[in-house]
Parts: sequence; structure tokens; C-alpha cells
Amino acid sequence: MLTTTQTNKPGKASHTPDNVSIKPQRMGFEFGEQVPRYWVDNNYLISHTMNALSVLFPEGEQFFVDSVRAFRDQIQDKKLKEDVRGFIGQEAMHSLEHIAMNQHVRDQGMPVEEMERDLKVILDVARKLPKRHQLAITCALEHITAMMADMLLERDDIREDMHESMRPLWVWHAIEETEHKAVAYDVFLQAGGTYTERAFYQVFSTVALGIVGTWYTGRMALKDRSHFSVKDAAKGMWRMWGKNGAFSSLIPTWLEYFKPGFHPWGKDNSELIGRFKEQIQDYIAPQYKNGNRRTLQ
Ligand SMILES: [Fe+2]
Ligand SMILES: [Fe+2]
Repeated sequence: MLTTTQTNKPGKASHTPDNVSIKPQRMGFEFGEQVPRYWVDNNYLISHTMNALSVLFPEGEQFFVDSVRAFRDQIQDKKLKEDVRGFIGQEAMHSLEHIAMNQHVRDQGMPVEEMERDLKVILDVARKLPKRHQLAITCALEHITAMMADMLLERDDIREDMHESMRPLWVWHAIEETEHKAVAYDVFLQAGGTYTERAFYQVFSTVALGIVGTWYTGRMALKDRSHFSVKDAAKGMWRMWGKNGAFSSLIPTWLEYFKPGFHPWGKDNSELIGRFKEQIQDYIAPQYKNGNRRTLQ
């Protein structure tokens, strides 16, 4: 049974550690012939799953931004205001970089435009919910992206499965998702969000993501069915959902969200940011180096 315990901690609005700065950075990734069609572990199913995930990002991140922006004027705390500014800028950059990747996926004959159009219809339905419920959806999905980001940075095997032409995009995205993992949540607490809302919308959002993610992966796989092989699909399923699989291993972290005192920074993994941030600098396109940051607000 869900309770209505409020998890807001008085006195502190931003819980992002002081050693973490949330700054947007345009990367200018390019995707071309250097990217193999099956860029994750040379596997048909996992590659289509990750391509489907990428298609969800631009529209999905716009939803995240809008849901946080709706509460921007109510935030008094200077630090949290800064966090929100960084969050909006970072998500805007993620959308731009994933649009470039999605264009590449579209060039391979995948029905990306139709999928984006359908996602917009789904999100427009979600936009009819009360603003704070939309923010609860964002908090839920930010928890899911944060735990995937943590896994990607933590597990060498998962990163090494990605082709080197694709890995920097996902590592960069994972770093920034870690940096801003608590921003929507801190805004939700300031907005008086309740335990019931966030717990309900975690279940709701996970089910919705599961359905849309499976549907979208299926659409890609169907379009590419001439390359389907049972062995490849079975191996992909095992790598994602088997023992220590990329997704199955995240279940305990997903459940953490239901603890009444949960906070995204309850687990301080800021060390991972430092470990990877330096490496990723090498992948910034020349026109975006030297602090040439573009922030969309
Ligand atoms: Fe993002
Ligand atoms: Fe995010």
C-alpha cells in the first residue's frame, strides 16, 4: 500500500554535491560509414534496442525539460535555479546529438520519423496530466536514465561491447545524466511532490517505457527482418535480461526508488564523472571546443 509520506528535507533545496557542475556541452558527433549496422556486440537485437532508445530521446527529453521548466519560477533557491539552468541546457544538447544519431539510423532504412511522430502523440497525452504529475514522470524516467548511466560508466564489459564510433556519445550522455540526476527530483520536492505521486508514476512510467521500448525495437527489427537470426536474438535477450544482464542487473537499483527516504544522490557516484570527463574532451568537435557552449533555455 502506498503512503503519502513526504520526502522533502527542509533547509536544503539542491542536493547535487558541490564537486559536481552541471554545464551543457555541445559535442558535434558525426555518424557515418564508420558505424557498423550492429554496433553493440555485433548483435542485431541489442543494437536495435539501443537505436530505439535513441529515437525516444529527443522528444522524451523535451518533455523532461518542459516539465521542469513549468516549476522554474517557483524555485527560490539560487543553487537549485542554477541546477535547473544546467539541466535544461544539457538535455537540449542530448537531443541535438541524438538527432544526429537518429538521422544515421534513418539512413539505414529504419522508420524513425514515424516512430518520432507516434511518440509525440503519446507525450501529448501525458502533457494533459497535472504539471506535478508530469514532473513525477520525469523524475521516474530520470532515475531510469541515471541507473543506466551509472551501469555504463561502472561496467567495462558494457562499454566495451559498444563500437568505438558510438561509445563516446553514450559515455558523454551517461556523464551528464549522472551530473544532473537529482535536478528534476529536487524540483519535485520543492513543488511539494508526494511519495504516492512518485511511486505511482515510477510504476506507470516503467510500464509505459517497457511497452514503447519493446514496440519500437520490434518495429526496427521487423524492418530489418532479413537479418534476423534466432541465435542472435536469443544471445541479445540473454545479454539484456539474463544473469547479470544490462537491464536485469538494474532491478535492485530501480527498487531503491520506492524507499520513503530515497534521493538520487543517496548513492554518491560522482567519482565516475571525474574518471570519464577527461577522456571525453577529446571527442568534442573543433567548433565546440574552448568553452563554445550553446545553451538553449
Ligand atoms: Fe539526457
Ligand atoms: Fe536527464
